[in-house]
Amino acid sequence: MKQIIIEGGNTLSGEIKISGAKNSAVALVPASILCDEEVTIDNIPNISDIDALKEILKHLGAKIKSTDSTLSIDPSSINNKEIPEEISKKLRASYYFMGAILGKYKKAMMYFPGGCSIGARPIDLHLKGFEALGAKVINEGNKYIVEAEELKGANIYLDIASVGATINIMLAAVRAKGRTIIDNAAKEPEIVNVATFLNNMGAKIRGAGTSTIKIYGVEHLHKCFHEVIPDRIEAGTYIIMGALCGDNLKVSNLIPEHLESLLSKLEEIGVDFEVGADFVTISRSEKYKSTNIKTLVYPGFPTDLQQPFTVLLTQCKGKSKVTETIWENRFMHIPYLTSMGADIVIKNQTATIIGPTPLKGTEVVATDLRAGAAMVVAALLASGKTKITNVEHILRGYENIIEKLSNVGAKIVLKEI
Ligand code: UD1
Repeated sequence: MKQIIIEGGNTLSGEIKISGAKNSAVALVPASILCDEEVTIDNIPNISDIDALKEILKHLGAKIKSTDSTLSIDPSSINNKEIPEEISKKLRASYYFMGAILGKYKKAMMYFPGGCSIGARPIDLHLKGFEALGAKVINEGNKYIVEAEELKGANIYLDIASVGATINIMLAAVRAKGRTIIDNAAKEPEIVNVATFLNNMGAKIRGAGTSTIKIYGVEHLHKCFHEVIPDRIEAGTYIIMGALCGDNLKVSNLIPEHLESLLSKLEEIGVDFEVGADFVTISRSEKYKSTNIKTLVYPGFPTDLQQPFTVLLTQCKGKSKVTETIWENRFMHIPYLTSMGADIVIKNQTATIIGPTPLKGTEVVATDLRAGAAMVVAALLASGKTKITNVEHILRGYENIIEKLSNVGAKIVLKEI
């Protein structure tokens, strides 16, 4: 078990470079097995979710070579077999192997994925999509066998614009016969990044980033080189830290357009920041105004930044509201924030925050990845020492968080307990 200890109240200044996007990389790695040759992916973040995906690739017999941030995957030696539950439950994104393996080998055998407990997280839309393409789904307890004699393009309407279902159906349809149309597709930048990767291999995917994606099936996919886009959620988390503790904190190697909803909210509450071509420089101000946020699919306010943003709202004058519309269980950070001094009440899916309130260091828990990030934000701001346990969640998604924050002046250590 690991613990993060933070001595709060220090100013953050200098530069933090953003890593490759977790939610892109965790789809690109499984997508690589659709190829017939070796692919190379650059800007892969060094996080434990990627280690788990490498474990699955090794289990299947793929040849992988990794350097600092580059991963080369040669799937030609894969022996399609069941992916054991111990590995698939380590992360949510293991479900992308279902679409990719089905797309390539027409039969996938694996277990229900893991990931943060932020809601029920069903995979019915993924499975419906596979069925529409001609697959049969057998579900025994936690195990799924998805099999097709032939995959045929189909028109698929998603009842919810799900990121996972959009990507998974795209993966299964890339080598299917004929044309697939996904309507009400999710539009997140990570989906565009995955579609670009597949197109670089020779796939024909049009419209990624809009709500209608067309996939024209191809027979072969060839080698390519691809880069993971910067992590907009990691960037947003450090930008929020800058708004609370920064003095000219430069968060660089990001795509500002991917952060528009966050930056508009920061402007609204009165945060002082400058946006460059690939960076945001931010300093803390004395007074912030309250605001309301509602999490929505992209380009709306990202649910993954809701928890860190709530910490910022504790420092805004007046009443702010956070309404979570994507996940039903994403307020687990709130009791810990109140134990640090925040004034927050939750009713149904809305948290009402009255601020500003000073925060004081105490012992808290990272109940999930982004709740953990929120705890780090709160601890940096708080007076005194905060001990965060269950930090394995944080390390699943934030590359080198200890080094990145220490380098800009935070007093933060990771301890084995
Ligand atoms: C992805 C992100 C996660 C982010 C979320 C929403 C990854 C690895 N994770 O998760 O960080 O919080 O998008 O931006 O990329 N749903 C169904 N049935 C399905 C699939 C989804 O009902 O088959 C529902 C979910 O319960 C949820 C909503 O749709 O309420 C959105 O989920 P989805 O976009 O699929 O999230 P993930 O892909 O799991």
